[in-house]
Amino acid sequence: MSEFVPGADDPQRAHPGPGCPSGADHDREVPDVDLLTPLKIRGERLRNRIAMSPMCQYCAENGMANDWHLVHLGSRAVGGAALVMVEATAVTAAGRISPLDMGLWTDDHAEPLARIARFIASQGAVPAIQLAHAGRKASCEVPWRGGAPLRPEEGGWSPVAGPSPVPFDEGSPTPEPLDPQGIHEITDAFAAAALRAVSAGFRVLEIHAAHGYLLHEFLSPLSNERTDQYGGSLENRLRLTLEVAERLRKRMPDSMPLFVRISATDWVDGGWDVEQSVVLCRQLKNRGVDLIDVSSGALTPKARIPVARGYQVPLARKIREEAQIATGAVGLITEAPHANEIITGGDADLVLLGREMLREPYWALKAQHELGEEPVWPTQYGYAVKRRTK
Ligand SMILES: Cc1cc2nc3c(=O)[nH]c(=O)nc-3n(C[C@H](O)[C@H](O)[C@H](O)COP(=O)(O)O)c2cc1C
Repeated sequence: MSEFVPGADDPQRAHPGPGCPSGADHDREVPDVDLLTPLKIRGERLRNRIAMSPMCQYCAENGMANDWHLVHLGSRAVGGAALVMVEATAVTAAGRISPLDMGLWTDDHAEPLARIARFIASQGAVPAIQLAHAGRKASCEVPWRGGAPLRPEEGGWSPVAGPSPVPFDEGSPTPEPLDPQGIHEITDAFAAAALRAVSAGFRVLEIHAAHGYLLHEFLSPLSNERTDQYGGSLENRLRLTLEVAERLRKRMPDSMPLFVRISATDWVDGGWDVEQSVVLCRQLKNRGVDLIDVSSGALTPKARIPVARGYQVPLARKIREEAQIATGAVGLITEAPHANEIITGGDADLVLLGREMLREPYWALKAQHELGEEPVWPTQYGYAVKRRTK
């Protein structure tokens, strides 16, 4: 049963702007859109181009979402983001980064997530969820306790899965290479979790193929040393990610957008790079993927990453231009004018914010104000915040 939320589904919050170009406007040199222009992708209409990036909260018990997740995600929907993405949600129990990760490996997991999706949607935002398998980076302590690999006697599990017996780092467990049956089970698990997510009311799905987790491990020659049809050539290394995307697309309603987050480069010579990413993204597009959420790194601790303001934006631009697919830009984007330039300059179609939205849940409302528009407050706040008493 859905709970009563006064002011929910306020049409002004859901549809503040007049225009609504689709995500397919990437072929224009300088799109006639800005950060506050709605974005149409398949049957979904995002009220602006500001999204909350998926961020693990490490506080789910046995994979179950709880009130923390409702308030954490719900606040950003109240705060004006157009799309709110649930953190990396494990498609199998063994695919969790930590024992406290969110999961969706049984039907029971869908129930508390449905409440969250409902609330996000009631605030005019689109509920999205990222589906993930941590691969060789599974079974770790939560980051605020150091993030080290956990042995079974410490609450972890063994073995962790990967493409090849190549550990992430010294002291990391050696992953057990997935056999063909294991690979099949992984694609099945992604497909089953996707169906549960759809039935829970999520309206965008994102496949996590970034940050050194399982799918990225298959993509990168640094972690994939297989000699079967899932390793070696670029075509073979792409296979698992493409199969997962294909399975999801077939299970999802046609009107529902599918995103894929990639690490566009490993930032290591001889590793996965942006040229290979362009090839992957062209093939993802052919399989019905709508947007590439362009992150980078985290496959190997040896990477030298040139971290700076908006440092991943050029990767989003290159993929947008060369694979002719809509992209999301993420990474050290904190200011509204900068986010706006990313859209007006044609670098990306969507801007995702991570840490800055942790600092400021109302970032999107403030961006509206800063960019010269009247913020579209929730009904419950709108009349009050406009009335100044001093
Ligand atoms: C606490 C935290 C948890 C994160 N969890 C995820 C996750 O679940 N999935 C993911 O793809 N990225 C995750 N990330 C990366 C963010 O989504 C984002 O890409 C990154 O923080 C860079 O953006 P920012 O500079 O705006 O924070 C996480 C980042 C943080 C800070």
